[in-house]
Amino acid sequence: MDLDLIDRTFLVTAASRGLGFSVAKSLADEGAEVIICGRNEESLKKATTELGEKAQYFVTDVSKQDDIKRLVKDIGTQMLHIDGLFVNAGGPPPGTFSDLTDEDWRKAIDLTLMSAVWLTRETRHLLKISDSPSILYSTSISVKQPINNLLLSNSIRPAVIGMMRTLATELVSDYIRVNAVCPGYIHTERVDELMTASKSAIESITARIPMGRMGKPEEFGPVCAFLLSPVSSYIHGALLLVDGGLYQGMM
Ligand SMILES: NC(=O)c1ccc[n+]([C@@H]2O[C@H](COP(=O)([O-])OP(=O)(O)OC[C@H]3O[C@@H](n4cnc5c(N)ncnc54)[C@H](OP(=O)(O)O)[C@@H]3O)[C@@H](O)[C@H]2O)c1
Repeated sequence: MDLDLIDRTFLVTAASRGLGFSVAKSLADEGAEVIICGRNEESLKKATTELGEKAQYFVTDVSKQDDIKRLVKDIGTQMLHIDGLFVNAGGPPPGTFSDLTDEDWRKAIDLTLMSAVWLTRETRHLLKISDSPSILYSTSISVKQPINNLLLSNSIRPAVIGMMRTLATELVSDYIRVNAVCPGYIHTERVDELMTASKSAIESITARIPMGRMGKPEEFGPVCAFLLSPVSSYIHGALLLVDGGLYQGMM
């Protein structure tokens, strides 16, 4: 299937590795220009080299509003529009209600919710010039069922879905499609790091996944490239799980 991505431009945030990188790679492999960001410049350089000559990076911390303003301003000096935005960030820290302070909550809100608000607001004028603008918010299976010890993710990520579902009506005046993707367990470097301490943790997770394994990043990126592409032009306001069947609710 031709996703019609040649010469289209996408901003993919938090993409020097992991899920963000898998999306940038899928878009670049289809001929798109990709702009990635992250906090560590060395990692971004390496990722950009892997993505090829149509990729560029900006050092940006998406939990900081000024960084996002600067990022989009810099993009605007180079191009008149972008065709899509993949909203991603690092994960909020684990912890239970008793562990977490107000400061932890505030930081997590900036990282997980406000980054999505700021990115949407700042890129809107660049997106609406495209003939097929699209935003895809990356969240987590935690928006469908809480994950133990991830109170911040369980509490704040659903707000991103609430925003996305509302924007499906509000942004339609700019013809901007909005959707969300909810990964279950995808075996990225982060998951590797979390699990190296405990092989039994991987075993107990995979035992709960009907497909019997975690997903691979290359099983996530292409799904997102499709949802960002003009080919999915009638998918709007949707939430798609990429979880190997882990979520077993009816709705
Ligand atoms: N992998 C999974 O199974 C899974 C499942 C559900 C949800 N998620 C969520 O999906 C997101 C990505 O997960 P991942 O597994 O791909 O993690 P990862 O392998 O650790 O990659 C995270 C990427 O985000 C960048 N990043 C982190 N914080 C950032 C910030 N404040 N501003 C800009 N860039 C930032 C990192 O680069 P720098 O460190 O250089 O900034 C890196 O490129 C996380 O929120 C995670 O909680 C993952």
